Amino acid sequence: MKKAFYPGSFDPMTYGHLDIIRRAASIFDELTVSVLNNKLKTPLFSVEERVNILKEATKDLPNVKVESFSGLLVDYAREKETYVVIRGLRAITDFEYELQNAQTNAKLSGGLVDTVFLTTSLEYAYLSSSSVKEIASFHGDISMCVPEFVAKLVYEKYGYEMK
Ligand code: PNS
Repeated sequence: MKKAFYPGSFDPMTYGHLDIIRRAASIFDELTVSVLNNKLKTPLFSVEERVNILKEATKDLPNVKVESFSGLLVDYAREKETYVVIRGLRAITDFEYELQNAQTNAKLSGGLVDTVFLTTSLEYAYLSSSSVKEIASFHGDISMCVPEFVAKLVYEKYGYEMK
């Protein structure tokens, strides 16, 4: 069985993340979406909220499960006995950071953990969780970035509604 996991902050999950999840789920037999519980950062959504959003958004994908993790990615990979990491690449600007992470994880795991990159579909290439939060902080429309139920939750966090 070919297993992989897709780690990230997903704060919040965007259509870009969903695109990567759907495509990775069609390549691998089992895909785990792994939400980082980073105690050093103050996210917009708690780790439980982020996991629930991802579960709702992927409920039609039977081979996808969602969970959280903390600590080093390579330790989590060993625990799960899953050694393929999925990451999305939007643009060349992502590349340096992703290459460094992939090589660090390979080194830290003695070559056990490998990273597979999927290029984000062009229609989502401009999307990022940070820009979603920035638009929402100015009470803007984020309906082109995230599913409707996620947009509502984001608007609630920033205390407004979009008609
Ligand atoms: O969605 P993000 O914030 O770009 O995801 C980054 C993530 C979660 C993949 C990365 O921060 C990570 O793997 N963190 C776990 C800690 C770790 O293992 N760091 C060493 C890798 S350089």
